[in-house]
Amino acid sequence: KLEKIWLAIGITMLFVFLGVLGVSAFAMGVKPPSEHHHRIDPSKVQETAPFNNPGLRPIGNLEYEAVMTAFTFGYAPDKMEIPVGSTVHFTVTSQDVVHGFAIPGTNVNMMIVPGEISHVSHTFTKPGEYLILCNEYCGGAHEFMKTTIIVK
Ligand code: CUA
Repeated sequence: KLEKIWLAIGITMLFVFLGVLGVSAFAMGVKPPSEHHHRIDPSKVQETAPFNNPGLRPIGNLEYEAVMTAFTFGYAPDKMEIPVGSTVHFTVTSQDVVHGFAIPGTNVNMMIVPGEISHVSHTFTKPGEYLILCNEYCGGAHEFMKTTIIVK
């Protein structure tokens, strides 16, 4: 009689153990597809953080994050100023069509796809006025699409 009880307990424990294994395996398998894809509905870019508040933020000594949006025909923010020697980590997306993001005189040159988040970093070692230009044809005023980074 006692043996049967112990056997029942043993079998129960085995099933509990297998159940826990199964549940955790299931939980790991169905983790929601994380933000690794970094896609935003382009029409919601302006209301999605951090793009609902574009701008330059210090994140360390001579280190900044520039959250930017591209649109026909400009960028937000429309002007930035940093001290010489600053490293800027650009986080950029487009809220409408494909735009470019090129800073002549540097190796910064990206294609900005609507709703996709692009990253590039650059250290500005020389003072001056740097232009961010659109180098993807995006419509009538494409050639006027730009913003400025003042380094001093
Ligand atoms: Cu934006 Cu060309």
